[in-house]
Amino acid sequence: MNIRVETGAIEQIECDALAVVAFDKESPGGSLAWEVTKTVNGLAGKWIEELCQGGEFSGKLFETTILYRPAGLKAKRVVLVGGGKSDKFTAFELRKVGGAAVRTLRSKSIPVVGLALEAGAGAAEQVMAAVEGAILADYEPDQYKTENKKGKPIETFVAVVPGGEAALEEVARRAQIIAESQNFTRSLVSEPGNRMTPSALAERSRQMAVEQGLECEILDQDRMKQLGMGALLGVAAGSAEPPVMMVLRYRPEGEAASGTHLGLVGKGVTFDTGGISIKPSENMEKMKYDMAGGAAVLGAMRAIAQLRPAIAVTALVPAVENMPGGRAQRPGDIVTTLSGKTVEVLNTDAEGRLILADALTYAKRLGCTHLVNAATLTGAIVIALGHVNVGVFSNDDTLREKVLAAAKAAGEKMWPMPLDDEYKEQLKSAFADIPNVGSRWGGAITAAMFLKEFANSTPWVHLDIAGTAWLDDSKAFLAKGPSGVAVRTLVNLAVNWKD
Ligand code: BES
Ligand code: ZN
Ligand code: ZN
Repeated sequence: MNIRVETGAIEQIECDALAVVAFDKESPGGSLAWEVTKTVNGLAGKWIEELCQGGEFSGKLFETTILYRPAGLKAKRVVLVGGGKSDKFTAFELRKVGGAAVRTLRSKSIPVVGLALEAGAGAAEQVMAAVEGAILADYEPDQYKTENKKGKPIETFVAVVPGGEAALEEVARRAQIIAESQNFTRSLVSEPGNRMTPSALAERSRQMAVEQGLECEILDQDRMKQLGMGALLGVAAGSAEPPVMMVLRYRPEGEAASGTHLGLVGKGVTFDTGGISIKPSENMEKMKYDMAGGAAVLGAMRAIAQLRPAIAVTALVPAVENMPGGRAQRPGDIVTTLSGKTVEVLNTDAEGRLILADALTYAKRLGCTHLVNAATLTGAIVIALGHVNVGVFSNDDTLREKVLAAAKAAGEKMWPMPLDDEYKEQLKSAFADIPNVGSRWGGAITAAMFLKEFANSTPWVHLDIAGTAWLDDSKAFLAKGPSGVAVRTLVNLAVNWKD
């Protein structure tokens, strides 16, 4: 999608459709709380006011109405889009409202779309959210549909800020990089297990690294054996597909000003059948999204390569397929992890923590001073937080606060979860150092406690994205399928890092 910022008079903007936000008439400032909406209303014969006052357009979030050939404007159509209560309207809502307008127009194959924004103090934040919202809304995982595709992608999106500053161009450029990287993540996650094998994921990451000028190293099974990644190899044993570990490196130019070396680690289970502790077949097809953490880390690296933060960042994505083959690991097997700790595999379906244990240990070996991992780790986090918040676990208050602040600024909902020592009592094995599962209760926490054993004293945050990485139903502003959650937070964390 081409992205432009226009700062000229609204009546001069040439586009196929100009989206204009109108609010609930009962909220502060009424339906026309925005100056730019008032201007369009005045130019186009006050029909916006009439529709809102008459109740035909309520202004509730994501409601849309299209007017053709509005008088007084060069735009061919005006799309009125509801913003809800004006006093509750933030960049977070704008990202979605702009997205809703884009999806309405995309479904009608309308090529050039503008969105009218307010100049002034919040303009940069608005342009950022609008551009991100538009690019994310335009994404459709329909690459395997050979017929009946719904609409055509938008060709050009124009953020219209009458009287805005030239610096908004740069804001839009950065927003475009981030949102396109999030869509890159979604495109990886949308691939089915037969196509997105560990080797295929490695190939896609290598291709991306070459395009973006990142260093890329792929560890194969032999190398993992040499190193002693017994936990990762144990999970891979049941599959005909060999495992890989992707290592992508970004380094800032010149002398690194900061000693910080951020390690981003992502779970890359390209399909999770559960292994010998096999999952029920109902909904098992969704387990192709079990590599969403790994894909989020790769998407974040794609943006980081272009935005060039001041700290070193290394991404590690262990990728395996969890299958119940003749050579699969069994419940009760004991594996030796890269750290030297032994693990009793009581349940082969708790495989994410096994591959992450070795990846976290390896990240520390590569010199990472801070670790953040993203993983579709537990069904229990979906019970705890539903499909709204990412669960945030950490052994370090400062890093946890940094990640939560980055998430807030990026418009991604995340919520802190506890990691008290009491939970560790569930992680006792009769025959090895640690089992890979605890009891039924607090399953998301015991999974995180397991990872904490491998992060050890290195500041670490674990993001459990099992409830948020996949949309079961489409929204007004987003397609059904992969959400690309955590990409914007990880990018924000690296780009705005302060020691
Ligand atoms: N990949 C799953 C977690 C998951 C569940 C992701 C639902 C997305 C949606 C993970 O590997 C898993 O199977 N976890 C088990 C752990 C249990 C065996 C302790 C779970 O959550 O049931
Ligand atoms: Zn599993
Ligand atoms: Zn899994």
